[in-house]
Amino acid sequence: MPGLFSPFTLKGVTLRNRIAVPPMCQYSATDGLANDWHLSHYAGLARGGAGLVIVEATGVSPEGRITPACLGLWNDAQMTALAPLAAAIKAGGAVPGIQIAHAGRKASANRPWEGDDHIAEGDPRGWQPIAPSAVAYGHGLPRVPREMTADDIARVTADYVAAAKRALAAGFEWLELHFAHGYLAQSFFSPHSNRRGDGYGGDYTGRSRFLRETLAAVRAVWPEHLPLTARFGVIEYDGNDEATLAESIRLVRDFRDGGLDLLNVSVNFTIAETRIPWGPAFLAPIAQRVRREAGIAVASSWGIDSPSVANRVIEREQMDLVMVGRAHLANPHWPYHAALTLGIERPSWVLPAPYAHWLAKYRVAE
Ligand SMILES: Cc1cc2nc3c(=O)[nH]c(=O)nc-3n(C[C@H](O)[C@H](O)[C@H](O)COP(=O)(O)O)c2cc1C
Repeated sequence: MPGLFSPFTLKGVTLRNRIAVPPMCQYSATDGLANDWHLSHYAGLARGGAGLVIVEATGVSPEGRITPACLGLWNDAQMTALAPLAAAIKAGGAVPGIQIAHAGRKASANRPWEGDDHIAEGDPRGWQPIAPSAVAYGHGLPRVPREMTADDIARVTADYVAAAKRALAAGFEWLELHFAHGYLAQSFFSPHSNRRGDGYGGDYTGRSRFLRETLAAVRAVWPEHLPLTARFGVIEYDGNDEATLAESIRLVRDFRDGGLDLLNVSVNFTIAETRIPWGPAFLAPIAQRVRREAGIAVASSWGIDSPSVANRVIEREQMDLVMVGRAHLANPHWPYHAALTLGIERPSWVLPAPYAHWLAKYRVAE
């Protein structure tokens, strides 16, 4: 059996294989509430055979959403609307996960297909973004955020805790803290965006404090037997990569000691001018290094869409899980496709019986 299809156990949870669907925003909610689109989308992905399906970035507070159409988890109505998604993912045989997020200075944006830029100041659909410092991201996201006070920081940590409790009550069994992609937490850690002079800025200890405190606060309420994970950018590709990686790995070790069970290794995206070496599985060597040097289980994505590449990064122990994103949007049955391609006997059994039975002796034409 190819390694990609071996089970993976983390804490009290076992995934049926090493394939995960990473969080992918649908920008299709009203008032942060999940609806029929989300239900059919996530149910379909679980049916396709992945071991883990992580629901998209879900705002811990209204101002923490990327766009007005992002999901939220700051009230009980949103929790109630998410519960059927968790149940449907589970019914499809996958473990239901969710990513909880605060977009920081990248918040208050238009949907990607409606500009992907900040909503104009004064437009009632938008709001004032907040961030560690009053430094704009720039380019399509030029709004200067309001610098957070100590009270704001404590409130957002409490919002993460409240969202984690609601995620648990909604039936999710895998929690991912969004600490990546230039959103709030990543922008606290990066000197590009954090210019604070208080205990939440400056040296490693100050810049990492919001992330460490938020992890500790969530760990205190998230059950020990369920995986608590984070997505975190460990490299910016800004020419200062070795120093960034070393400091990031130091923080991942602190996360591990603070109770983190797995890191979803990603890119910082804190500044726009970078030289990212896009290509198939380009982050795999970085993920492997984090895994080895921080001594923690890792997952990663970016350009892992070929079944043989996905299988290779697992068999070479570069990652414990592969996150297959856009390829799942193109084909929600990607795990079946992978099983077929990797020569697994009777690959249709990756799918539920009402599909599998009919596909056992059937091959789609090339
Ligand atoms: C439509 C779309 C929405 C995304 N939304 C999120 C998100 O909510 N949270 C996140 O951490 N990454 C998000 N991403 C990044 C993906 O999780 C993934 O890392 C990226 O698509 C690269 O993997 P791939 O090459 O397999 O597609 C999104 C990507 C896409 C295409």
